[in-house]
Amino acid sequence: MPNLTVDIAPGRKNSLVLKNPVMPASGTFSWGIEFARHFEIEALGAVVSKGVTMAPRGGNQQPRVAETPAGMLNSIGLQNIGIEACISEMAPLWARWDVPVLVNIAADTVEEFGEMARMLDGVPGISGLELNISCPNVDQGGIEIGQDVGASARATRAAVRNTDLPVIVKITPNVTDPVALALACESEGAAAICAINTVLGLAIDSRRRKAILPRARGGLSGPAIKPIALRIVYDIAKAVRVPVIGCGGISSGEDAVEFLMAGATAVQVGTATFANPRALLDTIEGLEAWLRANGVADVNEIVGCALPAPTVAGTA
Ligand SMILES: Cc1cc2nc3c(=O)[nH]c(=O)nc-3n(C[C@H](O)[C@H](O)[C@H](O)COP(=O)(O)O)c2cc1C
Repeated sequence: MPNLTVDIAPGRKNSLVLKNPVMPASGTFSWGIEFARHFEIEALGAVVSKGVTMAPRGGNQQPRVAETPAGMLNSIGLQNIGIEACISEMAPLWARWDVPVLVNIAADTVEEFGEMARMLDGVPGISGLELNISCPNVDQGGIEIGQDVGASARATRAAVRNTDLPVIVKITPNVTDPVALALACESEGAAAICAINTVLGLAIDSRRRKAILPRARGGLSGPAIKPIALRIVYDIAKAVRVPVIGCGGISSGEDAVEFLMAGATAVQVGTATFANPRALLDTIEGLEAWLRANGVADVNEIVGCALPAPTVAGTA
């Protein structure tokens, strides 16, 4: 059986060694607890929580989703129970699992990212943080911070200074230069970069002559965004030294292989789970089958194999 173990926070005080490189994408797996009733949650490399905010949120007005060709638009608006209930109600359940849980945090301000990181530091059941500086569906924080290189760097610094947990920063694709964002976050101590969050889109209801979603814009996800996600993972992986976690349109082992080849050390499966609740397990099994069929003994061997060979100064 090939080795599937990967380390997504090498050299950090608290490393994040995963038994395989496959985890859910935030917001598509709820708290994980509901899924634990239906399948072997500990088969996953990690669990990623839905986005948590300082105060509980009710989310945006309905409808919050619209189906599109090869994907969907969502405008959930970070509906969640708030950080205190996450710590008191969810973390004790997570602590019983033999799978690391990463908490996805969304703050309104740079300072609040630091405050939330401090509150989650050392909580049993929480193994890492994913900073959501890329949510397109809220008025404050989110993409406002994530589209600004300086603010993204400051949010990363605020979180990293307030916790020993590995801090993964999740990047928006809705900028001209996602690599600049990734480099800024890496330089402020991000343990890994997750790419990508949803791509801004719009759907119109021609009968009602208006946008389907009440806020008009929504975040596009699913197979439609896979080539965009692959391109951004590839570009970021060429530039940074920390691990990259690929996300966007992944639904199979073959998709996972492509992201690993483009430079991702691990992958997240999101929208695919809505159509196939076993998509995460299928991705793990498909990845393992691909490695076996291609005589690859260790999944790390294919990470970045499609990236251009580094040019040595003076030889280019
Ligand atoms: C319904 C829904 C809710 C989401 N909620 C969050 C969230 O709370 N935090 C976050 O960082 N990303 C959130 N996302 C973005 C996903 O984690 C992921 O980045 C995106 O959907 C692309 O992956 P996919 O094509 O596999 O779905 C959400 C996506 C969807 C579809």
